[in-house]
Amino acid sequence: MTITMVKKQLASGEPCKKCVQAEEMLKQRGLWDKVDNVVFAVEGEPDSAGMKLSERLDVSIAPLFIVERDGAETVFKSVIRFIKAEFPESRAVGKRPIDAGKLSPEQLSDLADEYQPKSPNKIIEWALRRYGTDCAIAFSGAEDVVLIDMAAKSGLPFSVFCLDTGRLHPETYRFIDRVREHYGIDIRMMAPLTEPLQAFVRKKGLFSFYEDGHPECCGVRKLEPLKRALAPQRAWVTGQRKDQSPATRGDIDVIGLDESHHNQAGQLIKCNPLANWTSQEVWEYIRDNDVPYNELHDQGFISIGCEPCTRASRPGEHERAARWWWELATQRECGLHSEALQSS
Ligand code: ADX
Ligand code: SF4
Repeated sequence: MTITMVKKQLASGEPCKKCVQAEEMLKQRGLWDKVDNVVFAVEGEPDSAGMKLSERLDVSIAPLFIVERDGAETVFKSVIRFIKAEFPESRAVGKRPIDAGKLSPEQLSDLADEYQPKSPNKIIEWALRRYGTDCAIAFSGAEDVVLIDMAAKSGLPFSVFCLDTGRLHPETYRFIDRVREHYGIDIRMMAPLTEPLQAFVRKKGLFSFYEDGHPECCGVRKLEPLKRALAPQRAWVTGQRKDQSPATRGDIDVIGLDESHHNQAGQLIKCNPLANWTSQEVWEYIRDNDVPYNELHDQGFISIGCEPCTRASRPGEHERAARWWWELATQRECGLHSEALQSS
């Protein structure tokens, strides 16, 4: 087997950021010496070895990995897919989760201060190094795939769950499955319990939230499954951002104690690594890293929840105005993030 990596060199002479990250990932996993050849695709130089190779393969993306085996070539346009296909057992070297005891209030407060200015990558890495698969990413939207992408690139173990309310858009279900395939990860789909759901629907039908508010339905379809999802975890990671809702999320910490939910370990840590990012930063990351996203975003949706409770955003309106739009701005939280409700 021969492995060739095509790296891009910008016209300015600078290396391409994604290629540097890919090399770093391979080094972290002890796989860098498996790459037999590195060729450069130099911007503006069609005769450079990498440009010629890219042209022959009709691929304009970098980095690129070409695996030659028994005369056949397999081309990978993503370092994650390359690693998953060729070295599925690889893990980040020297990055095993440490045994994590409970953190004191002082330690937590110091951690929140220390990590507040740090990059989302560093915050995720802190959580995964400490808790490994006992730390779960709560996944449903664009922000969460950014977190999954960062976690996958860190090479550290992690777990992912999704609250399957039964009322998500078909596009969202397809998106969830694309993310599962893209990263080769298990996504724990947490469905509501049958009996309470049937009792609720029998009594109030399928659209009672338009009449008397969303808390009851969210309680059955989201909060109870969240309780079960969090019980075995020591920490969870969410994609909340402060600017999603200054009224309800303006004060969230990047690392903190979750006092609204409980787990078997007796202390649940909640991380919001994107707390200080803007929507624009999230979308730049998605574009720069070819991160999969929900096709509804191309149809004018910004913040996406359940189908009956989400509409496309109107020009100029705030993203959360399109969630539970018939209710007051301070009520547009479903209780997953109870600190948001307490501060409203
Ligand atoms: S919500 O409370 O209004 O529904 P929002 O859609 O803004 O939340 O998402 C904020 C974060 O909550 C997401 O980044 C994700 O971590 C978590 N979250 C929201 N909905 C779900 C879901 N259905 N499954 C898992 N996590 C979710
Ligand atoms: Fe029910 Fe709407 Fe809440 Fe989904 S968002 S659980 S459909 S009230």
